[in-house]
Amino acid sequence: MQERLEALEREARAEVAAGRDLDTLKDLRVRYLGKKGELTQILRQMGALPVDQRPVVGKFANEVRDRLETLLAEREAELEAASRELRLTREGVDITLPGRYLPRGWKHPLLQVQQEIEDVFLGMGFTIAEGPEVEFDCFNFELLNIPRDHPARDMQDTFYLTDDILLRTHTSPVQIRHMRSVAPATPVKVIVPGRVYRRDAADATHSPIFHQVEGLVVDRGISMGDLKGTLLAFARQLYGPATQVRLRPSYFPFTEPSAEVDVSCSFCHGQGCRVCKGSGWLEILGSGMVHPVVLQNGGYDPEEVSGFAFGMGIERIAMLKYGVDDLRLFYQSDIRFLRQFEGV
Ligand code: PHE
Repeated sequence: MQERLEALEREARAEVAAGRDLDTLKDLRVRYLGKKGELTQILRQMGALPVDQRPVVGKFANEVRDRLETLLAEREAELEAASRELRLTREGVDITLPGRYLPRGWKHPLLQVQQEIEDVFLGMGFTIAEGPEVEFDCFNFELLNIPRDHPARDMQDTFYLTDDILLRTHTSPVQIRHMRSVAPATPVKVIVPGRVYRRDAADATHSPIFHQVEGLVVDRGISMGDLKGTLLAFARQLYGPATQVRLRPSYFPFTEPSAEVDVSCSFCHGQGCRVCKGSGWLEILGSGMVHPVVLQNGGYDPEEVSGFAFGMGIERIAMLKYGVDDLRLFYQSDIRFLRQFEGV
């Protein structure tokens, strides 16, 4: 029996030494040392031995088991180390390889101009308010004092989703929404950047989607002088310190009086050129003193407070700033056009 054990040990040693991977070793462990393994099988037959030999053979069997145990553990450790070594070599980073080129983007010119406008007004103490692009008819028109028969209500101009829900045609509905959220005790000083929609066919100066920045100030004693001063400060920061502004009488249902605001042409400095069509002036926005009815609809008492409002098209400001003569260029994602605004 001792010989069978010795033979078993020899055979196991040879196989363990030849074992090339951890799975093979696991199989060997089961085969030699497992519950149904060969060593156990031999020990089962101990009963057949004379009583005095049993302890001797038993002790020897335990020694064989211990030695094989140790041997397997050593070999396993060896294989593990080897496979770790291999993995490290394989996963190693070659720091001498050239890097991969990752193209980096930049802000779209419209976003750049929007943020520039925002920065100017934030510097004057305005905060930013926002509102939904899908809007109720009443906020977009009715509460802004735009009567049912106003031409802007025409289906030609407005994208209606249902009878009383539409895509907002300007950022002015946020005037009402914002006033209602803070009236009547809190004064208002906000700008509202955002996307607006009109049923226009796209051409060099029209697009069914464009962007506006609205401004609204409501407080005690606000005058037309505050409007002009604010817009002059804005124009000078955007177009340079020599810029002039002029107000021309105009009409909007939600302001009274209303004014179109022109800035002196930044291309010819008022001399007259192709961009300003020889006039020396560029129209940049619509404005006026908030109509008493609109103040009331916003929750303010027009006897107590007054306000001014203005609205400008971001595309138009950007076109005038960069001398872009076709609005569609902003939406065509032509990288040759956009690249010119990298790091501007
Ligand atoms: N909402 C007007 C437009 O879209 C612009 C405007 C805003 C005019 C605020 C006056 C006051 O044309």
